[in-house]
Amino acid sequence: DWKMDSFVEHSIQEIRKKVGNGKVLCALSGGVDSSVAAVLLSKAVGDQLTCVFVDHGLLRKNEGDEVEEVFGPNGNYDLNFIRVNAQERFYGKLAGVTEPEQKRKIIGEEFIRVFEEEAKKIGAVDFLVQGTIYPDVVESGLGGESAVIKSHHNVGGLPDHVDFKDIIEPLRDLFKDEVRKVGLELGIPDYLVFRQPFPGPGLGIRIIGDVTADKVRIVQDADAIYREEVDGAAQEYKNEHGKDAPWMPNQYFAALTNMRSVGVMGDERTYDYAVALRAVTTIDFMTAESAEIPYEVLNKVMNRIINEVRGVNRVMYDLTSKPPGTIEFE
Ligand code: XMP
Repeated sequence: DWKMDSFVEHSIQEIRKKVGNGKVLCALSGGVDSSVAAVLLSKAVGDQLTCVFVDHGLLRKNEGDEVEEVFGPNGNYDLNFIRVNAQERFYGKLAGVTEPEQKRKIIGEEFIRVFEEEAKKIGAVDFLVQGTIYPDVVESGLGGESAVIKSHHNVGGLPDHVDFKDIIEPLRDLFKDEVRKVGLELGIPDYLVFRQPFPGPGLGIRIIGDVTADKVRIVQDADAIYREEVDGAAQEYKNEHGKDAPWMPNQYFAALTNMRSVGVMGDERTYDYAVALRAVTTIDFMTAESAEIPYEVLNKVMNRIINEVRGVNRVMYDLTSKPPGTIEFE
């Protein structure tokens, strides 16, 4: 793609001019925007760049390790990579907190705090990288609809206590599909480039009610099964029909309801949690429809979750469109 090709060349030159011999710090979330921004910076200034990846323990199953594989010391890029395993710290702060906005606030503030501590250890930093893309610029200017309904803090927001000269926002003029093209151009793996959206507060807002390590385990395992089966069925459809399945959702995940109910397993009575499966088709995530995932796929997911995930005895499919529902549960 000639346009993205020249975009990459041009940004690398611009970044080098701006940074000189300076030190650059980047908060890496593993999301497509921060990943593309980080790789662009690494191509431009190599190990003058340090990326801090805060694992808040609210990522999807194996996600922390996947990010480390790509960006860590055995990964594909020349940069300094710091992974902070802050799981316990976040679970501690979240203990007993049930109110959704309160949870978002705690996760956002703790994230900034952890990031600031790492920045202090690194010492004098000249530039901070932000993965801001064009729609973010527009949305923050106009105050997007969903920004009012839920506080959309993006993990990676600006820390207050880190001294730096300037911000670098290499993706500021790009739309999402252009960011993905640049990502491919830069050799970032497909699964990162085409990742479905994942909220900054992560599984913290997919566990209704209070967050515990055990609930994180449940939702991670259920979600991994669900995504594996949907992806598999979607691939099968594509192989057979040569095009995407009409039911292919734009976002799909499992959430842990805070409801426990009675079930039976063998000849034992159980009293366990219900998992909710969510899948939506949408163009802009402002409105959405529940996706018509084939019943046989849902049925298989239900069986696997019940059999493989301890602590779950009921699986439900969320039919609600947005509005009146939201895509996430909190
Ligand atoms: P809702 O639940 O508002 O979600 O219908 C719309 C889209 O936004 C994502 N989302 C978030 N993203 N921080 C984020 O970075 C958040 O706090 C947050 N809340 C929702 C959600 O995954 C969906 O794609």
